[in-house]
Amino acid sequence: MGISHIAVLSSGGDAPGMNCAIRAVVRTALSKGIKVTGVKRGFAGLIKGDFQKMSLSSVGNILQRGGTILLTSRSPEFMDKKFREQAFNNLKENKVDALIVIGGDGSFNGAKNFGEEFNMPVIGIPGTIDNDISGTEYTIGFETAVQTAIDAVDRIRDTAHSHARTFLVEVMGRNSSAIALKVGVCTGAENILLPHEDVDYQRIADDVNRGVARGKESSIIIVAEGPKGGRSYQIQKTLKEEHKLDAHVAILGHIQRGGSPVATDRFVASQMGNLAVEALLEGKTAHVTVIRSGKTTIAPITECVTKQDMNFTEYKKLAQTLSI
Ligand code: F6P
Repeated sequence: MGISHIAVLSSGGDAPGMNCAIRAVVRTALSKGIKVTGVKRGFAGLIKGDFQKMSLSSVGNILQRGGTILLTSRSPEFMDKKFREQAFNNLKENKVDALIVIGGDGSFNGAKNFGEEFNMPVIGIPGTIDNDISGTEYTIGFETAVQTAIDAVDRIRDTAHSHARTFLVEVMGRNSSAIALKVGVCTGAENILLPHEDVDYQRIADDVNRGVARGKESSIIIVAEGPKGGRSYQIQKTLKEEHKLDAHVAILGHIQRGGSPVATDRFVASQMGNLAVEALLEGKTAHVTVIRSGKTTIAPITECVTKQDMNFTEYKKLAQTLSI
């Protein structure tokens, strides 16, 4: 039985470039005579049957927009078989043959189980600013989030330099170091604090003091938010109390998730959306579009369902060496 009707949804934290992927899925499918249904708010909308028919013009003028026109959610209900059954019935009633899920490792886990349980072809497209999914070198949204954070840190550097101050700048990444590491290297940060690492307060104080002694006017420490966002305030307190070091805190937060996608995100998302549909039409199921050795290709979903952090660990050393 061939595929004549595909559903597409976005799930988990939104990421700039998700709209480019949605557009590519819809336009590729329609160009091949395949119907497309958009599912609103991720798996929550799948459960509710919150569907919309996608046309060529429904994805017009969205390439440059952040967020996701299909909306998104984190849906704990989808862990429950009863709700997954409901979701499947909704797809069946609408005669949908296959599902494309744009999201992170958690969303791929849900998609994998769903596909296996109901024998439904599923393809994942990696979309998260964290760039932390196993099996792929890149996830849509990462470069835009990094650029947004770099722009913010550059501005902070201006004022930090003018006042000869140290700043702790907290970037997103609950379990992921990638944003912190890349932003740290690109902004000349004096130190980068990773999510699950013990904070070496002595080292921070020594680095800052050494910089001051050689005439540096400012220091920037990039803090990955870690499991508990806002931890920069505790770090600030300890630096003051135990090392007599004054630092200001700036938490960038969700600013990093919004905004117009940069070229890399538009390009990768366009390629992946296109490939996701082509893979389905070639009979592939339970696969994810991935970047491997710089090329867009597909890989089994089983390789893409865990978190993969620290693939840029060497960047921490690089930042420290270059900001000496
Ligand atoms: O989407 C990834 C991410 O932005 C992480 O970097 C961050 O820790 C988390 O989502 C925040 O999630 P929420 O918006 O649900 O608070």
